[in-house]
Amino acid sequence: MERRDFLVGAGLLAIAPTASAAAPGLDWGAVRREFRLDPALTNLGLFYLASNPREVRDAVEEFQRRLDANSHDLMPEEAQKVAEALGQYVGGAADDIAFVPNTTMGLSIVYGGLKLRPDQELLLSDQDHAWHQQAARLAAGRVGAKVRVGTLYESSAKATEDEIATRLRNSITPQTRAVGITWVQSSTGLRMPVRACASVVAEANRGRKSEDRCLLVVDGVHGLAAVDDDAARLGADVFVAGTHKWLFGPRGTGMVWVNPEVNGEIAPMLPSLSDRSTTALLGPGGFHAFEQYFAVAAAVRFHQRLGRPQVAARIAELSARFAAGIAEIPGAVVHTPTSLSAGLVCFDVPGSTGPELVQRLADKNIQITTAAYRIPYARIGTSILNTPEEIDRTVREISALAR
Ligand SMILES: Cc1ncc(COP(=O)(O)O)c(C=O)c1O
Repeated sequence: MERRDFLVGAGLLAIAPTASAAAPGLDWGAVRREFRLDPALTNLGLFYLASNPREVRDAVEEFQRRLDANSHDLMPEEAQKVAEALGQYVGGAADDIAFVPNTTMGLSIVYGGLKLRPDQELLLSDQDHAWHQQAARLAAGRVGAKVRVGTLYESSAKATEDEIATRLRNSITPQTRAVGITWVQSSTGLRMPVRACASVVAEANRGRKSEDRCLLVVDGVHGLAAVDDDAARLGADVFVAGTHKWLFGPRGTGMVWVNPEVNGEIAPMLPSLSDRSTTALLGPGGFHAFEQYFAVAAAVRFHQRLGRPQVAARIAELSARFAAGIAEIPGAVVHTPTSLSAGLVCFDVPGSTGPELVQRLADKNIQITTAAYRIPYARIGTSILNTPEEIDRTVREISALAR
């Protein structure tokens, strides 16, 4: 399907005003029809694990057909196409990308392969995902190094770029070998100012030798295809993301991008199937569900046709609409800061804990989630597949439950 097929108006190409000023002309209903969503469900948890559009499903089927015909043909040219597609999408080079099955494996491979001495430490924050923290702990434990978990803001709702940068600056020591952060935190919905963090890390690195250099590792899974920015140009050294969430890639796919200046600092953890490049060697080998990996290129094409700015604007417009609606409920608290946000909104309303609200809304066929952290805030994610009507209905139901 061509981008013009998503454009509304006579002859499909006419730019007609839609409900979304930020994404003029895109017919989001047509986009949604490319997916096999349950029509009875208002799903505000689509970021959790991707539903695949027709184009991705067709690509999986086609690669499966080719592998079934001759499973000796592992199609290395398709792996190259995926690396090129992802490279282009994140503003980096194909050679700087490795394929991994998910974010967790990507982070584990990066921390596990990082040349780390017992006198060094990995510095993470208390809002990084539990699996991110565990990946760091397992890696540090193997060499007798430490993991330190800091707090980058007092209150997520009031956090600012300055506060985060200052706290980070004060936390880095000469022993800090890597700083791990999350582009969009699934605990609070906060979008980390990655460039500001990168400047702090660059400042700390002045005069350091390469074996002491502090790397900035970003868990980017909730930013990729939700935020309109080049992940490889945020100033991070390593960017890891599953491609099976906001990008709508096949389930069980993900990527690692490594700044070529530091790719010698991370050694492969496992034998690799790919010798495309130094970074590609980080991708775990053995045979894979190749039909899933190769179809990642179709997911990138799908997003590029819609336009990354249009996708991000639609996601942000819907999440702002939701946050504004919740903020009007007496006693409700929105934990996601308006100025540092993307597609996730975490909140609390009087009368229900996060898990209770999930259950009460499920009874009304509305899927939300909680952040599985120390404080399980109620949480929604606004996808381009959601509609303003779904957002308004959900706010109304939450408001009624809060009474
Ligand atoms: C911030 C964050 N990082 C990592 C993960 C794990 O992602 P994956 O399933 O791709 O390993 C999640 C899970 O949703 C997450 O929210």
